[in-house]
Formats: sequence, C-alpha cells, structure tokens
Amino acid sequence: MPHLTSADRLFLDDFRGLERIGATPAGGVHRLSGTAEDGALREWFRSHAEAQGFDVRVDGIGNMFACRELVPGAPYVLVGSHLDSQPLAGRFDGAYGVLAALYAASRALDRLAADGCAPARNLAVVNWFNEEGARFAPSLMGSSVYAGLYSIEDMLEVRDLDGVSVREALDAIGWRGSDAPPDAACYAEIHIEQGRILEREGLDVGVVEASWYTQKLDITVLGEQSHTGATAMADRRDALVAAAEAVLAVHDVTLDFPEEMLVSSVGQHVVEPNSPIVVPRRVHMIADVRSGDPEIVRAARAALLDQFERIGDRRRVDFIVEDFDVREVCRFPEAGIALAEEAMRAEGLASRRLSTMAGHDAVALNSVVPTVLLFTPSVDGVSHCERELTSDEDMLTGVRALTGVVRALLER
Ligand code: GLV
Ligand code: MN
Ligand code: MN
Ligand code: MN
Repeated sequence: MPHLTSADRLFLDDFRGLERIGATPAGGVHRLSGTAEDGALREWFRSHAEAQGFDVRVDGIGNMFACRELVPGAPYVLVGSHLDSQPLAGRFDGAYGVLAALYAASRALDRLAADGCAPARNLAVVNWFNEEGARFAPSLMGSSVYAGLYSIEDMLEVRDLDGVSVREALDAIGWRGSDAPPDAACYAEIHIEQGRILEREGLDVGVVEASWYTQKLDITVLGEQSHTGATAMADRRDALVAAAEAVLAVHDVTLDFPEEMLVSSVGQHVVEPNSPIVVPRRVHMIADVRSGDPEIVRAARAALLDQFERIGDRRRVDFIVEDFDVREVCRFPEAGIALAEEAMRAEGLASRRLSTMAGHDAVALNSVVPTVLLFTPSVDGVSHCERELTSDEDMLTGVRALTGVVRALLER
C-alpha cells in the first residue's frame, strides 16, 4: 500500500467505524431499511456530515441530503449512494459510496478554493432510502421517488413480510422527514463493481456507460392445504411442489440464450402455512430476470409464463404472475462519461467503460438529470454476501476519482 496521507487515514478510520453498525459475526453487515441499524447509520451520517459543515435535510421517504449552499438559488450537484444493505450482506455495497461521496465533496471544495475557482452550483451528499429493496420491494425506492418514477404515497404503503409499512418503519425510527429535497443539476455516484472485470484487467476505476434491462416477476402459486400424512398422493394440490418446478424453470431458462446474456433467479419465497404436517396451500416468490438486451428478457418472460401454465395444469394449482420493478436499459450521457474519463486521466488512473448488471440509484437519477456512475474493483466479483471485499487502496483510489468528477461538475 502506498504512503497514506492523514486524510486517507481518516477515511479508513471512518469506514472501520461505519462497518461496526449492524456488523455480523461472519464479517458482514445486516442493515435492512427502516430498522434500528438503519437509524444508527443515519445518526452516523448526520453527525459526520454536520461535522464537515453540511446541513442535513430529510425528505418524506427518508432520503437524507447533506447540503452546502454555495451559490444561493443554484441547483445542486448531488453525490451519494445508500447505507441500507441486503440481509447478511457485505460492508461495501452502498456504504462505501456514501462515505466516498462525503470525502470527495469536501475535498473537491478544498481543491476549488485552493485553485481560486468559484463553484457554479451547490453541493449535496445523499443517502438514498432503501436502495436494496430487501425488506421493502421495489429496490431503488428513495431515488425513484426523488426522480418521480414512483409516487411517495404508494411507496409509504409498501409492506414487509410482517405487514409493517414503509411509513410505519420510518416513523418508528424517527426518520420520515418533511424537508423539500434539493433541486439537482446532476448526480454522481461511486459503487463497488460487484463483478470481476476491473480486477481481471488490473484497472483502478470503471466508468459505467449503460445498465441492464431488469424486471421482476411476482409469482403466487395457489394449491390446496391438506394433511401431509392422511391425504392420498393423487389428491394433493401441493403449491410448493409446483413452485419448486417453477424455480428450476427460472434458473434453466437462461440455458436457452447465449451464455452470460441472461441471468435469472428466485431469491425469495414464502410458504404458507409452513408447517411440517401441512401440504402447502400457497407459495409467494419473486424472480429477478436481467439482460443487456430487453428482447431477451421479454422472450425469457414469455417462455416462463408458458411453463408456469403447464406446471399449473399438471400439478392442479394456479399461478398468478405480475410484472413489477421493470427497469429499462439506461444509457449514461456521453458528456458525463467523457468528463469522468478526463478526471481519471488528470489523476493518472487507469479506467475502462463497462455496463452494470446490478441496479443503482444512479439509474433512477439518470432518468431526470445527467448522471455519472463510477465503479471501484471488487475482489472475486462477489457481492450481496459477507465475503464482499474491496481493498483499502482501491477505496482510496475511488475517492480520488470521485473527487475529480465532483470538482468538474461543481465548476460547470
Ligand atoms: C440491488 O442491489 C440491485 O442490484 O437491484
Ligand atoms: Mn448498492
Ligand atoms: Mn446491493
Ligand atoms: Mn444495487
């Protein structure tokens, strides 16, 4: 590891402090939206932002904006990510981007001042509410409300598996705000890659040019509840048996398309009534289907609907399938990509353009303002697990990269 400046050490100390919130015994974090851990993260963010001279606003869906008004009335350069996590998740997904944004924002302002340049815009560091969509689906919730893609009223009524709404969860931790969010001129985010490309090619930073088309299928399988011992096999209408076949279909549909062009999984399912002595009457599950090519997702979806119908007929159960959380392919503007590449050159960093298969708040923001999304390398490409890792050196390099981008955006 090269020589660390005192600012680098402060960043790493802050990251080590942050990763203690919601820490799991196996070295990850568990920070679902609207829980006590989320509340602790928010307190952490507020106190760190205020210590650096930012003024924190909270909107009606719990998005936090740490603002520095530099040019009264001007729109804001927003820079941020999310502090919530998946269950039993890694320490870097989202949280790294928020801390990097806080440091990059302060450093960009210092650099501008040192160079005698005046900012043309205001600046805010953001912690978006519920990027992960783990406890409350859909994902990218706070950033999508900000971008006008979802209504705040609908999102406040979304419920978790225990029936608790977003409104109730935010109220319970005291973080449903009433401040008006700042008007954005543009948005920048840095995130871990969650893939292997940067590591394999030995690069410092990725500049994201597009995101994959993604969609979820909300699947309910309805059978009939009966006794696991006393019901004749021929009489059973077992929702879980049909759901198991559907899970395999979701997995195997990828084999019908060229390798790596389609990914598809069932990540969540709930069995009712979930007793050892009861043939399940109902299974609810969510399939996540993604490709860089929307036509491939549409073809896979059609093939799956067809298969669900056949499984339903054979197993004498009903499938109810609804589309949700559909995200079009997003192309980040060329001007922002060029600005980021120029900033990488100025910092002497090696970068390349790539696509994201994972969803990011930047995708929601790009639908309303020009957006720049950077990636920092992930060890072994693993994410949404406790083993997720990005090296200290790569984290610090990412802060440098983001600082250059924020500085350039502030000057425009
Ligand atoms: C959430 O993390 C996603 O990638 O959609
Ligand atoms: Mn993330
Ligand atoms: Mn994630
Ligand atoms: Mn994500």
